[in-house]
Amino acid sequence: MQKWSFSLPTSFRDLYMRLTLLGFCFLYSSLVTGAQAECPLQLNPQRVVVRYGDSVEVNCNTSVPHKGMGWEADEGRVSKNQSQNLITWRVSNLTEWDIKPICFINPNDRRQCQVELPVTVYKTPDSVFISTVNHRGPMTEGQQYELQCDVHNVAPVQNLTVKWYKGQTLLNQTTFTNTIETPVNKTVTLLIGPDRADDGAQYWCEAELDLGAEGPQRHPTNSSKPFNVEVYYKPKHSSSTETIIQDDKVMLDCTVKANPASTYTWDHLKEKSSSPVLKSSALSPGNYTCTATNTLGRDSKVFIVKSKYTDRTTFWAIVLTGVVVAVALIAAYLIFKFRFSKNSVI
Ligand SMILES: *[C@@H]1O[C@H](CO)[C@@H](O)[C@H](O)[C@H]1NC(C)=O
Ligand SMILES: *[C@@H]1O[C@H](CO)[C@@H](O)[C@H](O)[C@H]1NC(C)=O
Ligand SMILES: *[C@@H]1O[C@H](CO)[C@@H](O)[C@H](O)[C@H]1NC(C)=O
Ligand SMILES: *[C@@H]1O[C@H](CO)[C@@H](O)[C@H](O)[C@H]1NC(C)=O
Ligand SMILES: *[C@@H]1O[C@H](CO)[C@@H](O)[C@H](O)[C@H]1NC(C)=O
Ligand SMILES: *[C@@H]1O[C@H](CO)[C@@H](O)[C@H](O)[C@H]1NC(C)=O
Ligand SMILES: *[C@@H]1O[C@H](CO)[C@@H](O)[C@H](O)[C@H]1NC(C)=O
Ligand SMILES: *[C@@H]1O[C@H](CO)[C@@H](O)[C@H](O)[C@H]1NC(C)=O
Repeated sequence: MQKWSFSLPTSFRDLYMRLTLLGFCFLYSSLVTGAQAECPLQLNPQRVVVRYGDSVEVNCNTSVPHKGMGWEADEGRVSKNQSQNLITWRVSNLTEWDIKPICFINPNDRRQCQVELPVTVYKTPDSVFISTVNHRGPMTEGQQYELQCDVHNVAPVQNLTVKWYKGQTLLNQTTFTNTIETPVNKTVTLLIGPDRADDGAQYWCEAELDLGAEGPQRHPTNSSKPFNVEVYYKPKHSSSTETIIQDDKVMLDCTVKANPASTYTWDHLKEKSSSPVLKSSALSPGNYTCTATNTLGRDSKVFIVKSKYTDRTTFWAIVLTGVVVAVALIAAYLIFKFRFSKNSVI
């Protein structure tokens, strides 16, 4: 109780002092940070993207009186100058990958402050090369293969995208998360399972540098040569049977796409035919099986050949039956009539 009544005014005083101190601290820190954030310098442009070896120019100006301002940089440094309000960092051949130029000023009324110029130095790759991993020659349908894209000597990798294409179709793309200013080599792979439709397809890869709003708006892009893929696949008919009505013009066509090309055999034929096409009129009705074969497999197709006279024969059979019945009826009538008249005469 005694402690409480005693401590109350103390803690009030204490609190007051603490708050005052805190206020000063806050004011001070905001002044300091505010001064740093508002260093009275302006860079124009505020950031640059430069191709390695190209020239670059950036102005730094101020509107406050000062005891000197200048540029600090590994290339193109500008020593402190009192008499100017605008100084230019200028390099005619930028060959520093991780350059960080700093414009600084010693204002009359406050401490030295500075602004760093963000510089992105880029370089398009020396080469973009496409190849297959552990494979040569034609690929086989249904198997997987690995394509590899080698991008040589490109910077910066954080702005690089490697894209894979088949013809004009984008298949996949890769970006890189590591931040490296100097040129790197990058290898990217793509797993493909080519099918028969991919026979003759062209794969290629592309290295693109997206350098942001300050960079070139046409993203520098370098492409590999197209890589032509040959795919081996077995023959496969779209339908396994086909009904054919015999006619001079109608063929039994067993032709089917395959790589390597198929050879053909027909059963139900006396002479072995290697032709994929037979004339239907040269055959008697029945089933004809053709087999297409290549190094990967075989596929058969049955042609059911029907006579085109089947229907007309039925028609003539009905007509003939009708005629026979009519003749029989007439004959029966005549015979009956003849006998009757004979009887009546007698
Ligand atoms: C720098 O110059 C530009 C244009 O001349 C001007 O608009 C800007 O206010 C100047 N910056 C400073 C910090 O004085
Ligand atoms: C400052 O700049 C002026 C005008 O360009 C120049 O005459 C003077 O020599 C420079 N001073 C220093 C210390 O570089
Ligand atoms: C730029 O500098 C590099 C290295 O110092 C040199 O090899 C190159 O020829 C220079 N390019 C130009 C255009 O001066
Ligand atoms: C694209 O490549 C990434 C690896 O870079 C892989 O994880 C992803 O599955 C691929 N996507 C397709 C559609 O192939
Ligand atoms: C990139 O590859 C080239 C040629 O293979 C080599 O000379 C160079 O040192 C490599 N660069 C890096 C950063 O590994
Ligand atoms: C590419 O570079 C620019 C300029 O340095 C940067 O602002 C941007 O974030 C980068 N883009 C990516 C995807 O890293
Ligand atoms: C890469 O592409 C750029 C333009 O995008 C071009 O200037 C450069 O010569 C190309 N490099 C190669 C090795 O083809
Ligand atoms: C021909 O094939 C069809 C359909 O596969 C079958 O119904 C028919 O019995 C076969 N005919 C002969 C003579 O084998």
